[in-house]
Amino acid sequence: MSIDPGIKRLHIGLANTCNHRCTMCFIKDYSIVLQPIVWKERLTPLYRQLDEIMLAGGEPTFIDWTKEYVKYVLSINPKLKFSMFTNGHLFDDWWIQLFKERGTWVNFSLNAACKDTYLKVNKGGDWEAVIENIKKFRAALPEKTNMRINSSMVIAGDNFKEIAEFLQLSNDIGCNHASIFYDHNSKTIPDLDIEYTNKAIEVAKTLPNLAVWGLERFKQYIENSAKAVLPCGPINYNLYIDIYGDVRYCCLIVHPDGVIGNLYKNTLDEILNSEKAIKVKEMIKSGDLQYCSSYCSPLTKG
Ligand SMILES: C[S@@+](CC[C@H](N)C(=O)[O-])C[C@H]1O[C@@H](n2cnc3c(N)ncnc32)[C@H](O)[C@@H]1O
Ligand code: SF4
Ligand code: SF4
Repeated sequence: MSIDPGIKRLHIGLANTCNHRCTMCFIKDYSIVLQPIVWKERLTPLYRQLDEIMLAGGEPTFIDWTKEYVKYVLSINPKLKFSMFTNGHLFDDWWIQLFKERGTWVNFSLNAACKDTYLKVNKGGDWEAVIENIKKFRAALPEKTNMRINSSMVIAGDNFKEIAEFLQLSNDIGCNHASIFYDHNSKTIPDLDIEYTNKAIEVAKTLPNLAVWGLERFKQYIENSAKAVLPCGPINYNLYIDIYGDVRYCCLIVHPDGVIGNLYKNTLDEILNSEKAIKVKEMIKSGDLQYCSSYCSPLTKG
């Protein structure tokens, strides 16, 4: 048995540890930590073949061993690139240097267009520090850069009126991408007034340097007109390991039956060569998205 050589990107949740407590955050237990038997013993054979590791948490910049993890995987594969979801609060010079040298993208989860809203949503956050860190990162890069400097907003009850302003702000502080997410559990999506989404769509058209992802999809989601997003790219090259060691082809596979194995129980080659893994891959490749989130599947509520 062997690990599929087509897997080139690993998305890994290192720990649920976080310095914030965002109102919509899907994390239930912030104390869970991925153990070395998974990230060291089980995953080391994979690191050699990867192009990129996407760091996730919890908050990667707050987890006290993320930097050691980065050094470890680089000792196995010095060509690795990195991407990361972060709240940006502790995105200091070490992170700026790492991403300047080896980054493909950083997603700063702003979730707001102003300090008041930010503090309501990102509980424990520091608005000024985050904005400053994003600007500093932008300034550290050449004017023409391939780096995706991404901001994001999870639409929720406290922020849905300022999607347009969030896009404008993202543009003004130097982001070149902005992503619109919505609550997977739909718990914090209010009775939305479509007017705010339409306004954001108009503002997005005036920002040629900001690529906006997810806004049209969100509109389709609330209007119930979404179609399947096909073909799926990530199924061919991506792997997601969550904080519990569960393995999926992608973090947006939300149905429990889409989990193909667990790295505390089995090795990666056993998991990837299992009947379950082969079945889930075939399903998604053939356009059956019943395990996938509503970002891709029109059938799923989550
Ligand atoms: C769980 S966070 C972990 C990384 C980091 N702490 C951060 O906030 O960027 C990963 C992404 O999920 C988003 N997120 C949090 N709760 C969510 C929810 N209920 N639905 C959709 N996305 C959510 C966050 O805003 C962030 O962009
Ligand atoms: S910063 Fe990220 S991990 Fe932390 S509470 Fe907010 S969404 Fe959750
Ligand atoms: S949710 Fe499913 S269809 Fe969407 S990217 Fe992930 S695996 Fe592909």
